[in-house]
Amino acid sequence: MKNKINEALIEKLKSAKNLVFFTGAGMSAESGIPTFRGTDGIWNKFKPEELANFNAFLKNPKLVWEWYQYRKDIIHKSAPNNGHIAIKELEKYYSVSVITQNVDNLHYRAGSSEIYELHGNIEKNYCISCNKRYDFIDFPESTDSPRCECGGLIRPDIVWFGENLPQDQYSSAEKVIEEADIFFSIGTSGIVYPAAYLALNANKLKKFLVEINPVDTELTHIFDLTIRNSSASALENILTTVESFK
Ligand code: OAD
Repeated sequence: MKNKINEALIEKLKSAKNLVFFTGAGMSAESGIPTFRGTDGIWNKFKPEELANFNAFLKNPKLVWEWYQYRKDIIHKSAPNNGHIAIKELEKYYSVSVITQNVDNLHYRAGSSEIYELHGNIEKNYCISCNKRYDFIDFPESTDSPRCECGGLIRPDIVWFGENLPQDQYSSAEKVIEEADIFFSIGTSGIVYPAAYLALNANKLKKFLVEINPVDTELTHIFDLTIRNSSASALENILTTVESFK
């Protein structure tokens, strides 16, 4: 769908230097990765309390590893979509920061240089006993859950329910928002906190706020502009517009 970019956004893009992209699962929907909520959402099919919390992991680490391997298999078959690529391309014209709730590594694979990961990364893991890091583990179905050389259980480096967000990533995200000229919120339902506070903070700081999402969200009322389109189409349109005047 080719929608024209709103004049107010064009004016902002002409004078802006720093762009912040705050992304959620909808950003990767066009790469074939399911979102969490909605009819086909992950949380409609699987129970977070059995899979995405520390006690569930201690009770049945193999089940949790199988689930993450299932998700990794989908992610490995997918590729960054035109939205991820447009964000990377915008680095030619702006200082661009990506703050993502996604764990799928697709912004990294698209080549974005500055990424803050609020909820971890599915390719990263660490030992729950000694904290040693183990990245890019594949977990074949037949094996037991991976163990560290110290004997401890290795877990995915994902923020589970009830856990704190990585403080360094969150604080850095807050700092880049202070410098932002435009804050884009893309493909997120905006109902998961503390991540969603970042959008509320951007609003308090009177940043120009743009939401890209096919539907209204809990946060829609705070945005200066809403683009009711898919993230790939909307971001392609934004990139084309920027290329026309830069
Ligand atoms: P949700 O599944 O809650 O929301 C996805 C949003 O993407 C919805 O608002 C959709 O309307 C929108 N959407 C769908 N397709 C889209 C498209 N092609 N383009 C743009 N938008 C589209 O996902 P999140 O908001 O990311 O946490 O969920 C936040 C957190 O909840 C996740 O990071 C995850 C989950 O529990 C952890 O894993 C810690």
